[in-house]
Amino acid sequence: MADDHPRKPEPESGVTRRDFMKISAVGVAAPVVLGPVMDAAAEEVPIQGPGKVPISLQVNGKKLSAQLEPRVTLLDALRDNFDLTGAKRVCDRGACGACTVLLDGKPVYACSILAIDAQGREIKTIEAMAEGDSLSPVMQAFVAHDAQQCGFCTPGFIVATTSFLQKHPSPIADDIRHGLSGNFCRCGTYDGIRAVALASGRGKQS
Ligand code: FES
Ligand code: FES
Repeated sequence: MADDHPRKPEPESGVTRRDFMKISAVGVAAPVVLGPVMDAAAEEVPIQGPGKVPISLQVNGKKLSAQLEPRVTLLDALRDNFDLTGAKRVCDRGACGACTVLLDGKPVYACSILAIDAQGREIKTIEAMAEGDSLSPVMQAFVAHDAQQCGFCTPGFIVATTSFLQKHPSPIADDIRHGLSGNFCRCGTYDGIRAVALASGRGKQS
């Protein structure tokens, strides 16, 4: 029976259909060859959980230890096990910034990091941002500029703003909009928060 489908010419790239089949066959075979290597690598990673395991965190200059399941987030460990409730749980999915803490000096969403993975890192929370018994300059500026209403987003904003100003000591308004865009305020106090950053950073309106 005649073939109704015209045969396509072999590609001009120099790779024939036969070459392609050979390459594909190698690709399929590769996992078989690599299998023992991958198995060996997997064996080196100790399995943790699902039950509780000992976890130690360095938080605000102190070592805090607890028995936690590996699935516990850093936020839940801080709030539920170490009584550090400044970081707030709002969205619990890395969208709002209410849970912001510093990890090795960088702002992160504590709801999106496992406590077990935060071991060996320096964690700083809002509780360690005051200066002794006095508010930090950023905290004072939040009060002076009335930059909060319900206050639920405020700890996360203060952590993020403090970190932002360390990197941008004299920001303009556009820097602030961009630099603090990872934190949301459902009460809409953004004008006050931008005023805080401008005043604290000695910046000017753009
Ligand atoms: S609670 Fe973590 S980002 Fe919203
Ligand atoms: S002050 Fe209420 S969410 Fe920001």
